[in-house]
Amino acid sequence: MTAEPPEKLRVRPYADEDFSAVVALEINGIHEPYRSAVFVRQQVALSPDTFLVGVEEETIVGFTVAAIVHDRPNTAWILRMMVGNGFRHCGIGTGLLREMCRLLAGRGVREIFLTVSPKNEPAVRLYTREGFNKESLVPAYFGNGEDRFIMKRTC
Ligand SMILES: CC(C)(COP(=O)(O)OP(=O)(O)OC[C@H]1O[C@@H](n2cnc3c(N)ncnc32)[C@H](O)[C@@H]1OP(=O)(O)O)[C@@H](O)C(=O)NCCC(=O)NCCS
Repeated sequence: MTAEPPEKLRVRPYADEDFSAVVALEINGIHEPYRSAVFVRQQVALSPDTFLVGVEEETIVGFTVAAIVHDRPNTAWILRMMVGNGFRHCGIGTGLLREMCRLLAGRGVREIFLTVSPKNEPAVRLYTREGFNKESLVPAYFGNGEDRFIMKRTC
């Protein structure tokens, strides 16, 4: 039997209201140990020039990834900012963020967005100190109980 798509199947671009259903498929489709590895591989494939690591004496102590929006090249999103547990409060996050903003500005980006949990005080403080302003608070941005500030900085 050939695997012809069913006649009743429609394929269309993603829309906001698809979020919960797509997340449910994603949860069932990728098992936990691989999820982070998938993310890193995907970001390297899509945004190799805006994937930065912080290195201290040969040790990777943190990383950050951003993506320039495909059809809006003056807009970028910082997708991850992570410093290893034992290396926090030493200025590494600040260094990664400043270098990322410098890099994006050099690429012609004029607006940088990111999302952060209102409960994540260290991150909100870091972003505010580095010139990001809260644009809005989106309830359940990542599902129930996972509200996020959208923050923006102009270059
Ligand atoms: C948020 C995060 C990236 C910050 O990284 P960090 O390396 O600790 O950030 P910094 O060290 O640059 O700044 C953090 C604090 O340390 C302070 N600090 C910096 N250098 C310091 C030093 N030499 N001595 C003491 N304190 C210092 C900063 O002033 C800052 O204090 P403040 O928050 O009171 O202003 C980190 O906590 C993290 O990875 N968290 C988990 C992942 C996460 O939440 N990511 C963000 C998701 S949106």
